[in-house]
Amino acid sequence: QWTTASIVEEQIARIREQIGDGRAICGLSGGVDSAVAAALVQRAIGDRLTCVFVDHGLLRKGERAQVERDFVAATGVNLVTVDARDRFLDALGGVTDPEQKRKIIGREFIRVFEQAERDLKAEGDYRFLVQGTLYPDVVESGGGTGAANIKSHHNVGGLPEDLQFELVEPLRLLFKDEVRRVGLELGLPETIVHRQPFPGPGLGIRIIGEVTADRLETLRAADAIAREELTAAGLDRDIWQCPVVLLADVRSVGVQGDGRTYGHPVVLRPVSSEDAMTADWTRLPYDVLERISTRITNEVAEVNRVVLDVTSKPPGTIEWE
Ligand code: XMP
Repeated sequence: QWTTASIVEEQIARIREQIGDGRAICGLSGGVDSAVAAALVQRAIGDRLTCVFVDHGLLRKGERAQVERDFVAATGVNLVTVDARDRFLDALGGVTDPEQKRKIIGREFIRVFEQAERDLKAEGDYRFLVQGTLYPDVVESGGGTGAANIKSHHNVGGLPEDLQFELVEPLRLLFKDEVRRVGLELGLPETIVHRQPFPGPGLGIRIIGEVTADRLETLRAADAIAREELTAAGLDRDIWQCPVVLLADVRSVGVQGDGRTYGHPVVLRPVSSEDAMTADWTRLPYDVLERISTRITNEVAEVNRVVLDVTSKPPGTIEWE
């Protein structure tokens, strides 16, 4: 019988054996998998691990601080943040097609990350690359089922050929709940360990229409309010995730104060799910919906309407793009 502590001990021993006295790089996404993988490797090899975090500007409010402040405080890891916000905005200029957005974000992400790797390699002999691959990822990318190909998930199987790193994948045999337990065992903050899923392309695929700096600002503010209220209502563990989607090309008439407004709607997409392959829309309590709606329309200038998505998956996917 494996306990969490024994999984940690065994993985640390394996990592030490694999890496020896070498150096490793780990990309952090802000999500639980890469955080736990990095924390394990940090335990094993200390400051011979360097983590790289790409800020693509499509993050939610507070996410960069969560990595730069909370994760570093919990682990003592070496962290390099690459600020690539302008680069991603430029690349996404004029683009409205969902698959094109995903491809651009995936491509830019890999380019930025590779550059960071080259910069590190120039400084020291980094031969190992840490990945937070889980058991279901291994099965899914090997299986290539139709469902996995409905949207291009840029962070699965997209490894460049020419980088010549040896992979370190300490979570390869674990399921998500085991990874969370390992994270807690390693002292990672709850906010990271129990973070709900968030797509790699981030808010870029939650703006229906072109992604611009202003629209990101608007969506980030609305999303933060929804998350605050769901957390305050104690619902974080009951729902799988609740994307907030900005219908940037839609306007509707409203009235606020004594003036007519002509603003944008946001969509709340609360879902319940076991594995994201299927999902049901979550019957959120009306008072919680009311607080979210009132606060978003009061506090986010561009938004004058909040609508609720009551579609299951299938037929709707969880994300709108
Ligand atoms: P869909 O929209 O396909 O989403 O029903 C299923 C789950 O996957 C997440 N998602 C992604 N995660 N990279 C990711 O890491 C992606 O490109 C991506 N697209 C969707 C989504 O948030 C949901 O949890």
